[in-house]
Amino acid sequence: MKILLLGKNGQVGWELQRSLAPLGELVALDFDSPGPLKADFSKPESLAATVQSVAPDVIVNAAAHTAVDKAESESELARAINAEAPAVLAREAAVRGAWLLHYSTDYVFDGSGSTPRDEEAATGPLNVYGRTKLEGEEAIRASGCHHLILRTSWVYGARGGNFARTMLELAQERETLKVIDDQIGAPTGADLLADLSAHMIRAVRADASLAGTYHAAAAGETSWHGYASHVIAFARAAGVALKVGEEAVEAVPTSAFPTPARRPLNSRLDTGKLRERFGLVLPDWRWGVERMLTEVLGR
Ligand SMILES: NC(=O)c1ccc[n+]([C@@H]2O[C@H](COP(=O)([O-])OP(=O)(O)OC[C@H]3O[C@@H](n4cnc5c(N)ncnc54)[C@H](OP(=O)(O)O)[C@@H]3O)[C@@H](O)[C@H]2O)c1
Repeated sequence: MKILLLGKNGQVGWELQRSLAPLGELVALDFDSPGPLKADFSKPESLAATVQSVAPDVIVNAAAHTAVDKAESESELARAINAEAPAVLAREAAVRGAWLLHYSTDYVFDGSGSTPRDEEAATGPLNVYGRTKLEGEEAIRASGCHHLILRTSWVYGARGGNFARTMLELAQERETLKVIDDQIGAPTGADLLADLSAHMIRAVRADASLAGTYHAAAAGETSWHGYASHVIAFARAAGVALKVGEEAVEAVPTSAFPTPARRPLNSRLDTGKLRERFGLVLPDWRWGVERMLTEVLGR
């Protein structure tokens, strides 16, 4: 099997380099990869030549415009990267009979209510990022290519910056922290998504009827406040010197931190379809966060 991985240096792309490697020949690209093969999603049509030249059996697209607030003021670029580029990949996959695995987001929903949404729930994005990600999904489904779309939420990786690291840095500098407690979701590890992706690729190659759109997130739920409190308690128990106490993490509403992009309050995803169809288990969010913290803290 030949796999073309795009966006190889993002949070999920980095972990995919590891998880996809045993499946076959892996060609992994970023937008500024050295050599003749380019994968610049701001020039969607240029991706066709890359796909034709690599001639993959499976395309895995981990590239995206993920800067949710910035997308509000650069909607054309966000649309090119999140919607037009995936449409070109889907068209090329359909021509070749290749599979396309693509990632999307709970931000395709409006975040109303307090129960988890399944894959059939009505969409209603609140911001440019969500709208362009939804357009990307729709283009893939309309293309007729063999595809898997994994909608996920609150992604973190051990490499590079992430919410937990930011909270730890702030907790070392300040005596109190204010963190949003009315957005609810499940922090999901890039490593978990990469491992799920590898298992799912193997499964769909054996049984094409498994193609489709799936919700993929860690089990359980929390708020950003609950997430931050857990991170701080874990770090303190691991012996990290922090100025802030767990009780000094103040819960505030979303309105306390105005941002250019509106965010959904309910990011809960019902992952039953993925677990049942693929026979996979999704661990509790705390398990992955604690693994990541153990790596980040080096203890
Ligand atoms: N992060 C989340 O919380 C979250 C939540 C739900 C769903 N998702 C989805 O999960 C997938 C993976 O997200 P992630 O967290 O791994 O995102 P990420 O870390 O931001 O990675 C995205 C990658 O795309 C690359 N990219 C940006 N512009 C590009 C361009 N013009 N051409 C080629 N590559 C470009 C980025 O490169 P640079 O870093 O150099 O710009 C980066 O390597 C995405 O589809 C995202 O929409 C993410």
